[in-house]
Amino acid sequence: MSSANPVYPVIWHIDHVRLIDQTRLPNEYDRVEIRRYEDMAMAIETMIVRGAPAIGVAAAYGMYLGARDIKTEDRSEFLAQLERVAERLRSTRPTAVNLFWAIARMIKVAQQTLGPVAHLKQVLLETAQEINAEDIKTCRQIGDYGLSVLPDFPSKLRILTHCNAGALATAGYGTALGVVRSAWTAGRLERVYADETRPRLQGAKLTAWECVQEGIPVTVITDNMAAHCMQLGMIDLVVVGADRIAANGDAANKIGTYSLALVAKAHNIPFYVAAPLSTIDFAIADGSQIPIEERNPNEVYQVGDTRLCPVGAEFYNPAFDVTPAHLIAAIITEYGAIAPANLKDELQPKQVV
Ligand code: MRU
Repeated sequence: MSSANPVYPVIWHIDHVRLIDQTRLPNEYDRVEIRRYEDMAMAIETMIVRGAPAIGVAAAYGMYLGARDIKTEDRSEFLAQLERVAERLRSTRPTAVNLFWAIARMIKVAQQTLGPVAHLKQVLLETAQEINAEDIKTCRQIGDYGLSVLPDFPSKLRILTHCNAGALATAGYGTALGVVRSAWTAGRLERVYADETRPRLQGAKLTAWECVQEGIPVTVITDNMAAHCMQLGMIDLVVVGADRIAANGDAANKIGTYSLALVAKAHNIPFYVAAPLSTIDFAIADGSQIPIEERNPNEVYQVGDTRLCPVGAEFYNPAFDVTPAHLIAAIITEYGAIAPANLKDELQPKQVV
């Protein structure tokens, strides 16, 4: 697959959604068909679709699928039942705010649209498709603004990233990997280093897969190798995605991001977060208020079906951590690269739900 055949993890096809099954990559490339909102909720929970913007887009389609099955012509009853669909979709994953943002946008459109219920349903489908298309455009803008923060020297950069903030984690193109893609197209990239990203290995499985599809040179390292690579001068820049950014610029992203930011700081390597405006949660003041998802301990004690740890040990499996704003050089958004301290002033007025 090349840029002529780009990766779109969530697509609307005639009357249903098709999701790339991200639990099967890189060994199998499959699409699953989703026709009911409950199936969409389960696809988000089981991470068939994952990554903050992608689950926002998936949840928007989930809202439409739920709306489509509501059997009433009464507007208030329709809105009440739509709220129950929203509740189920909101319960799937707690950290990525794009999920809540997309659901809120769908609810608001339903409330503000006049006319019969059939018309509301049609407008909901169009809104989900809009959210989908906007995200691809947004990611390309993030990629382009990312070019503006690249240091002039060396001419070809070695960029480290964590988890997967690529096309698979968005509607297409990616945020952090969007910056990487734009750097590659501009001839500014030597190589990507992809942290494997335990426990679910999104870096090893998904980021590496995306890079290989496009011929972008990629080296996978285990998470505990990043400091060593920096110490040896192998990394010029770090760029990661985010699941929720607080008003002060603290950023929640995949577990392990915080330690990467600390290590980058120790080596004087710039650390960037790339994310759309829909990932910023101005309702919360700082990162301590971001809900952190805890996942099944089996993700820690086993790899695939193989158990690694003795029965009797206990396990802790937070899926995300929070990188404090002072470790972040800038947040690269579709409105430009913005210092965390200026986020609220520069971007809050632009956010519409
Ligand atoms: O648990 P995941 O795989 O959904 O976590 C994904 C990440 O942490 C990504 O870095 C983040 O969502 C940004 S995606 C553009």
